[in-house]
Formats: sequence, C-alpha cells, structure tokens
Amino acid sequence: MESLVARSGALKRQIRSRRPSGALSGSAVGLLFEKPSTRTRTSFEVATLRLGGAPVYLAANELQLSRGEPVKDTARILGGYLDVIVGRVFSQDTLVQLAAYSGRPVINALSDSEHPTQAISDLLTIKEAKGKLRGTTLAYVGDGNNVCNSLLLAGALAGMNVLAASPEGYEPESSLVRKARSLAKKTGGSIEVVRDPKDAVAGADAVYTDVWVSMGEEKEQAERHRAFKGYQVNSALMKSAPKGAVVMHCLPAHRGLEITDEVLEGKQSVAWQQGENKLYGAAASLEFVVR
Ligand code: CP
Repeated sequence: MESLVARSGALKRQIRSRRPSGALSGSAVGLLFEKPSTRTRTSFEVATLRLGGAPVYLAANELQLSRGEPVKDTARILGGYLDVIVGRVFSQDTLVQLAAYSGRPVINALSDSEHPTQAISDLLTIKEAKGKLRGTTLAYVGDGNNVCNSLLLAGALAGMNVLAASPEGYEPESSLVRKARSLAKKTGGSIEVVRDPKDAVAGADAVYTDVWVSMGEEKEQAERHRAFKGYQVNSALMKSAPKGAVVMHCLPAHRGLEITDEVLEGKQSVAWQQGENKLYGAAASLEFVVR
C-alpha cells in the first residue's frame, strides 16, 4: 500500500508535467461498468491514455450481459481482446468471476463490498496533507459501506489508526473489520468501530464521510436518512476535531445530508484535491497490474 501511494505521487508529478509513460503501451484496458461514475470512469480512461494504452468503455447494460449472458462467458471473450479489465459492479463475485475466467488482471473500480482504488487516492491525499501515513489517524463518519471497508483495510496496511463511527445496523462489514485488525497488528496501526462521531474525530488528522444512500440502496432512502441523523460532518462536529484536521469526501457529495456546504467548501476540505488524486491512484493501479 505504501509503495502504491508513493507511486501515485510520482505519477502525479509525471502526468502533470505531461511526461509520457509507456507502461501500458499497446495495451487495451476494458472498463466494464454496471453503475454510473464520473470520477472513477474518467480517471481510469485518462490514466490509460497517459500511460500509453487505449481505454474501451463497456456499459454493462449495452452488453449481452444485460440479456442474460453469464459473467464467465463474457469474461472468457473479453480476456481474448483486452489486457486489463477495470470493473465497477454490484456483486464482488462478478469481479471474482471476471478474474477467474478472463485470465487478465481485474481492478475493482467499486463493488458493493469495497472501493480499493478510491482508498489508494485517499491515502495519497492524506500523505500530501500530513507528510506521512504511518501513525496518522483517520476518522470515518457515516455509513460503513464499501468506501469505509476499503479505508479500514488500506489504513491498516499503511500502519494508520482508523476509526469508523456508524449508527447501529450500518457498521462496516465485520469480516473486513477483523481482517483490517489483523493487518493493523502487523503494521502498528489500529482499527476501532465506535458509535459516537465525536469520539471518532477527537484525535483525527483526517475526517472522512460518504453518502448515506449508495447506488442500489435508493429504496432505503427514508429510513437511512433517519438512521444517519447525527452523523453529519458539519462545523459543530469539526469543533470536536483537532484544528489541523482535513475534511475528506470521495464524492459525489450531498450538501445538507452527510456534509454541510460550509464544511465541504471550507478551508479544511481537501475533497477537490482528493478527486484529482483519483487519476494518479488509477494510474498506479494500472501500472501495478501490468508490471
Ligand atoms: N468517488 C467515486 O467513486 O466517484 P464516481 O462514482 O463518480 O466514480
């Protein structure tokens, strides 16, 4: 994780100065997306181009997948055409099948369980803000969703202290919390799941939130809005955090729900830098799987 974050930073400098990279020269990268995306899709497409490859966008609803062709058959065919597959899917199992049957590296661009490339870009943003990762404290406030799960795992790998504050019934996945704790033991990090957002942010270097209703959960909107009342990242909550804490959001943000406009647009927010960093996290991930 530390080397992926370091490589993301190096690629940031290289891509910003328009110095060419041939890491994906002659490679075709397929982006198979079952869900909408602004940042992840565009960053992977542009990262592919910046590394000398060609992106091929595959909207799942335009493939025979949408008419019942099995994932494993689709994977076998795509594996014959593509060098890398980037998948944004509902079920984690779809990624597992894509990897098993395509014979190609598959990058998770968000599943219902995890959003690992988001976490790489997020850790780059924390490193830029705090100068290091090891020993820094990240407080996640809100839904224990795929983004939260990946921050727990990535933070544990990087030796960070990660706290997640979620309402009852919306905690991060217990098997991933156990995995993150076991990783943290080896790296000197720590993982805590707490109830009160104020407890989570009290010693935070970074305060992070995400949407209360993820893609595919729209029917639960009313009950989720009730459950997450009290979990908004606002100026009152930020008074409980150290003055130097940065505020993060993986975006898209819903101002007035999980975060206020004042905090998202405020001096402590690094959300826009975090958004740009997705390009470099994507580039480092692509480079990693083809090296
Ligand atoms: N943060 C993130 O994954 O954004 P998109 O849904 O726009 O890709």
